[in-house]
Amino acid sequence: MQYSMVTTAYIIAAVLFIMALAGLAQQESAKRGIWLGMIGMIIALAATILSPEVIKLNTGLGYIIATMIIGSIIGLWVARRVAMTEMPELVAILHSFVGLAAVCVGYNSYLYHHDLTGIMQQIHLVEVFLGIFIGSVTFTGSVVAFAKLRGLIASKPLNLPHRHKLNLLALLISTVLMVNFVMQGGSTNNLLIMTLIALVFGWHLVASIGGADMPVVVSMLNSYSGWAAAAAGFMLGNDLLIITGALVGSSGAILSYIMCRAMNRSFFAVIAGGFGNDPVTTETGIEGEIITTTAEEVAAMLSSSKQVIITPGYGMAVAQAQYPVHDITQKLRSQGVTVRFGIHPVAGRLPGHMNVLLAEAKVPYDIVLEMDEINADFASTDTVLVIGANDTVNPAAKQAGSPIAGMPVLEVWDAKRIIVFKRGMASGYAGVQNPLFFMEHTRMLFGDAKSSVEEIAKHLR
Ligand code: TAP
Repeated sequence: MQYSMVTTAYIIAAVLFIMALAGLAQQESAKRGIWLGMIGMIIALAATILSPEVIKLNTGLGYIIATMIIGSIIGLWVARRVAMTEMPELVAILHSFVGLAAVCVGYNSYLYHHDLTGIMQQIHLVEVFLGIFIGSVTFTGSVVAFAKLRGLIASKPLNLPHRHKLNLLALLISTVLMVNFVMQGGSTNNLLIMTLIALVFGWHLVASIGGADMPVVVSMLNSYSGWAAAAAGFMLGNDLLIITGALVGSSGAILSYIMCRAMNRSFFAVIAGGFGNDPVTTETGIEGEIITTTAEEVAAMLSSSKQVIITPGYGMAVAQAQYPVHDITQKLRSQGVTVRFGIHPVAGRLPGHMNVLLAEAKVPYDIVLEMDEINADFASTDTVLVIGANDTVNPAAKQAGSPIAGMPVLEVWDAKRIIVFKRGMASGYAGVQNPLFFMEHTRMLFGDAKSSVEEIAKHLR
């Protein structure tokens, strides 16, 4: 393939990636967006593999194809096995691969490109240094995010004394090392010390962030992985990798910003590992009585209600209760009851998780409302069904000093009565107890959400 053809293919792929991102912005066009992205990636890979640089290596092509086949088999196997609830973990670990790849490309570029001089050499050394720094932070940060999401380590924030000063110190030392590295025309010691600092820095940055802020962390790491890829693109002199990295980096940053606004968090506070957050007070045990109920009683309460709101959460996804939930929705609507859904922006474990599940079960889009659209309506609601949600309906968010203080939540406690579907008294993802369960007008329906909702459906006329 000639250089001009490679460039043309890269431009087509870049346009397809931009169209893919635009498609992913809407539920209706998301599938088309994914297809456009896949076609773009196939064109990009084919053009890179058949480019004059790779062809002239002769032996390289065989290795690339063999590696791609092995990688594709592993990728297909993992993608087919992964449950919807495990997607954020998969995304986090994939980000770590991008980070690690950027580190490897950086070292490779440092060790094998000694043909540059003057300002070009200095620019190259800065690229190498920044690429390895961002890659290392992304690598360990993503591994910690993976471990937290998978429950391998506690989701509570690691509050080391002077943690912000430690972060600042790591950045300052890395900057001094970069200046030294460039002034000396490259120095392996500076690079190795910075890599170690960046690995610890990435680990500490994510370990310091609490469970409820994990969605922002995942999208932030997504952004970092994009910048790491763009840095690798500069080192490899590959324009398409620079464009693709910049697209991922900036869209991840915009998503993080939108999520921070939705969760009432400062963008800077989250990316700096919780900088500026109020110290969190130790939680005290909530005392009070819980009142249980039965599926039959809930069916009777629902039938006598005029306004019902369902607020689903992670537990609905675990139980796969969306189909019976749709079933009771239809039954109640046919009885003249108004049923709507209230969706918290971070309910579940990935952005739009609840919307995807409800769309899968064919719940009409027009009765599925965002938190801001529905929060004022709880006061005029007869019954709220909290199906497998916990942090997203926790009134503790209104109390200063709580680990989730300031996070906007669905104000379900304003309704006349609340039915909470869960298996036991476990806390939500943020590890914070929920006073909602002890309120006078709350009833607990214990059991797997799917079985409970199916049982209610049987009792509904
Ligand atoms: P969570 O706070 O995670 O609570 C889920 C509840 O579901 C648990 O209390 C659990 O209690 C219950 N549950 C689990 N399996 C169940 C089953 N089979 N049947 C019935 N109940 C079941 O849920 P949420 O309100 O959706 O909040 C999401 C949390 O995850 C937030 O803190 C959010 O910040 C975080 N997070 C979100 C994302 C994104 S992007 N959405 C990503 C990472 C983290 P039992 O065990 O007692 O049943």
